[in-house]
Amino acid sequence: MTDWTKEEDAWLLPGYAKFPFVPARAEGAWVIASDGRRYLDFYGGHAVALLGHCPPPVVKAVQEQAETLLFYSTLAYSPIRAKAARTLARLCGEPGSKVFFCNSGAEANENAMRIARLATGKKKIVATQGSFHGRTAGALAATGLAKYRKGLAGLGTDVAFVGFGDAAAAEAALARDAAGLLLEPIQSMSGALCPPAGYLQALEAACAKHGAALIFDEVQTGLGRVGAPSAAQAYGVRPGLQTFAKGLGSGVPCGAVLASPALAAKVKPGDLGSTFGGGPLACAAIEATLAEVASKKLWENAAALERLIRATFAFPGLVGIQGRGLLLGLVLDRPAKGVQQALLDAGILVGTSDAPNVLRLLPPLTIGATEVGLLKAALESCLAGQGAPRTGGSPGLAARGAA
Ligand SMILES: Cc1ncc(COP(=O)(O)O)c(C=O)c1O
Repeated sequence: MTDWTKEEDAWLLPGYAKFPFVPARAEGAWVIASDGRRYLDFYGGHAVALLGHCPPPVVKAVQEQAETLLFYSTLAYSPIRAKAARTLARLCGEPGSKVFFCNSGAEANENAMRIARLATGKKKIVATQGSFHGRTAGALAATGLAKYRKGLAGLGTDVAFVGFGDAAAAEAALARDAAGLLLEPIQSMSGALCPPAGYLQALEAACAKHGAALIFDEVQTGLGRVGAPSAAQAYGVRPGLQTFAKGLGSGVPCGAVLASPALAAKVKPGDLGSTFGGGPLACAAIEATLAEVASKKLWENAAALERLIRATFAFPGLVGIQGRGLLLGLVLDRPAKGVQQALLDAGILVGTSDAPNVLRLLPPLTIGATEVGLLKAALESCLAGQGAPRTGGSPGLAARGAA
């Protein structure tokens, strides 16, 4: 039988360090590997499975769209593109907000910075230390986590970094001719770090004062994850630009920039473009995904489960919980890597972060108290075992159904 792990390593350039299994299929919060083992996915397929894996309404919409019109670019009009943009703008924007569709989070951030520069006629972008905005040159230049920029000299000449949470430093940088301020309202890769009270409001005021665009990277925080349709709404702030990707299309690659009416008015034909961005297949996935988020108000479930986790996760080894909604960082008294491995052996997928002691949770917004209970039991037992890998894991959990 072909060993697909060896085959993939033979043919692909190396990227992420991989989970040691081959997902064969997935349903809801569960991934079923080729060896039959089941994994409860508290990492949400890299924060993409907003509605769980293979959500039936999205699968159906994509199937129907693929059979009707697989692709035509934005050179031509498209009802499904108009619907997807309208739904995103209604969910996360204000009357008169407009959308540009692209293919990934990095591309969305590139285009948001482009719009800020075009609209203001200025070049400099202010970004925050500890941020992550993607792997393309411009997005990487604004990424504050230095390890991702290592060896790529020449990036970031027109980016000024300030501390996350330091509104005075941000204002000082904005005063020096900045086009925009790009930040994750909650820093995910840094361990799900929430902004200090009043910080985002202060940034909104500083951007307005200095004629710069406030850009929220909502690639992880957006679309219901943090207990509101967007982090902007969760914190009561009105950014000029918001970027979305990850769960936007439930796994069909896509990204979006949502521009406020004032910034939308500055974009002229020809300023933006993308062959694949806004294609019908992606838009069918976006429309079906957002319709589910909106009709089921999934942000309310995210907020309720955060409350449940905060109320019930109290055991030795866990020293804090940070983040908001279902973007949570579990702060441990030991390195998170070993605990992640022990949970994997027990049949639960979680993420780590650039904070060595923080486990990151980004599960589907559709999970419930049962899944939270399974994570709690497994984590408590892993931490009691000092994070030692439990070979074979928990057969009870591994055998449980994908309900
Ligand atoms: C906050 C944030 N912004 C942007 C990106 C880049 O998204 P993509 O990998 O789709 O380019 C990521 C990816 O992890 C992210 O977490």
